Amino acid sequence: MRLNSSIKISRALMSAAVKDGWISGSLESVPKETAEAVVIGAGVVGVAVARELAAKGGREVLVVESAPTFGTGSSSRNSEVIHAGIYYPPNSLKARLCVRGRHLLYDYCRAHGIPHKQIGKLIVATRPSEVPKLSELMSRGVENGVEGLRMMDGEEAMRVEPQLYCTKALLSPVSGIIDSHSLMLSLLGEAESHGAIFSYNTSVIGGRYEGGRLQLYVCESESLRNWDRASPLKPDLILSPRIVVNSAGLGALPLAKRIHGLDDGIVPTPYFARGCYFTLSNVRSPPFQHLIYPLPEDGGLGVHVTLDLNGQVKFGPDVEWIDGVDEVSNWLNLFDYSVGGDGANRFYPEIRKYYPDLRDGSLEAGYAGIRPKLCGKQQIPSDFVVQGEKLHGVRGLVNLFGIESPGLTASMAIAEHVVPQLSHHFN
Ligand SMILES: Cc1cc2nc3c(=O)[nH]c(=O)nc-3n(C[C@H](O)[C@H](O)[C@H](O)COP(=O)(O)OP(=O)(O)OC[C@H]3O[C@@H](n4cnc5c(N)ncnc54)[C@H](O)[C@@H]3O)c2cc1C
Ligand SMILES: *[C@@H]1O[C@H](CO)[C@@H](O)[C@H](O)[C@H]1NC(C)=O
Repeated sequence: MRLNSSIKISRALMSAAVKDGWISGSLESVPKETAEAVVIGAGVVGVAVARELAAKGGREVLVVESAPTFGTGSSSRNSEVIHAGIYYPPNSLKARLCVRGRHLLYDYCRAHGIPHKQIGKLIVATRPSEVPKLSELMSRGVENGVEGLRMMDGEEAMRVEPQLYCTKALLSPVSGIIDSHSLMLSLLGEAESHGAIFSYNTSVIGGRYEGGRLQLYVCESESLRNWDRASPLKPDLILSPRIVVNSAGLGALPLAKRIHGLDDGIVPTPYFARGCYFTLSNVRSPPFQHLIYPLPEDGGLGVHVTLDLNGQVKFGPDVEWIDGVDEVSNWLNLFDYSVGGDGANRFYPEIRKYYPDLRDGSLEAGYAGIRPKLCGKQQIPSDFVVQGEKLHGVRGLVNLFGIESPGLTASMAIAEHVVPQLSHHFN
């Protein structure tokens, strides 16, 4: 294991042989290390939490990431939109952390030169019957504290955006776009400069809570990949941290299920909703200046127009409810991210509702992302779930579940929300 030597190696032997399902046999020979704080997962949320712990909290932080580098999960498979905070139920974590996170993010981008642009967004009704929904969104946004929202009639919106068709539009001037890779790189650099250590190719495969102390079973991702699935899985290392933040994204729920001593009754059932993107080819300049969103649909925000900072136009993501994969494949991020070219056939009619001039053959397969959902098809959308020890009784553990959109926007606010919950463990 490539863990930094500044983390003290504890020679204390584990008292008993462990039988936790697939992990069996004696763990006495497995090396043990202590750590002050462990963050599981180096997506944008994990990196933001690590920075908050290291830079502001002055903690000794170890970030464990199963992939060969940071940000290869949902954090690099999204729309890169800085959301305003319109859609979410008032006072929900999504609403509060999105609005707060947006402010933190814009400030951070300005202070650290992260490429971003506050280009604004139009949510459009393309039929008179959709207009009441648009008005509902507007009042919800106002209630959530979103600044500058304004209703436009169709004519005005189509004057501002000549390629657009709509009957009415809601303008959100504070929405924007961001280069999420640069953001992560910057947060990570700050975390590292305050001593945080990132251990890549390193997977957490479970843990145990006993005698007030949480232990994490850690494995090199390579051994996990090569595991024959018949023999018991043995960790390469056991970590004994004082605090643990489980920000493993899609892997967070199955991981929590593998923590022996954590009541798994409080761990929700995972659902997965894949979203594909298609890019617009054969255009000299982007057809729109603003982000263009139809009204939200079940499971997502609708097939919208996103511009990236290079002027590339993307459409997506759609919503496709998929089955999960087994937990090891999940932690190794072996989901199906392929984008079938025929998916485009479904996109054309959707997009033409608001962009009637979209030409045949102009969509090219882009990429896909998977939303870590806590509710299934046609169910009421769930909120972010932040589970601390008050809820589950495991000292020093915070689980982050269901961190789907607007998780990128909210990342710094999530960090700001999580770290104080752990502060009584710092002395
Ligand atoms: C299609 C789509 C579009 C989106 N659009 C937007 C948007 O426009 N704006 C916005 O604000 N948000 C958006 N989001 C949401 C945003 O992308 C996520 O909320 C955010 O990236 C979540 O970050 P994370 O760190 O929690 O998860 P991730 O980025 O998935 O990071 C989790 C990390 O944990 C690692 N890991 C998993 N299991 C283990 C394990 N056992 N051991 C060690 N490491 C492990 C993974 O390899 C991964 O790197 C979108 C999401 C999707 C899917
Ligand atoms: C991680 O593993 C990959 C192979 O899967 C390897 O190429 C890479 O060098 C490893 N990175 C680190 C930091 O060990």
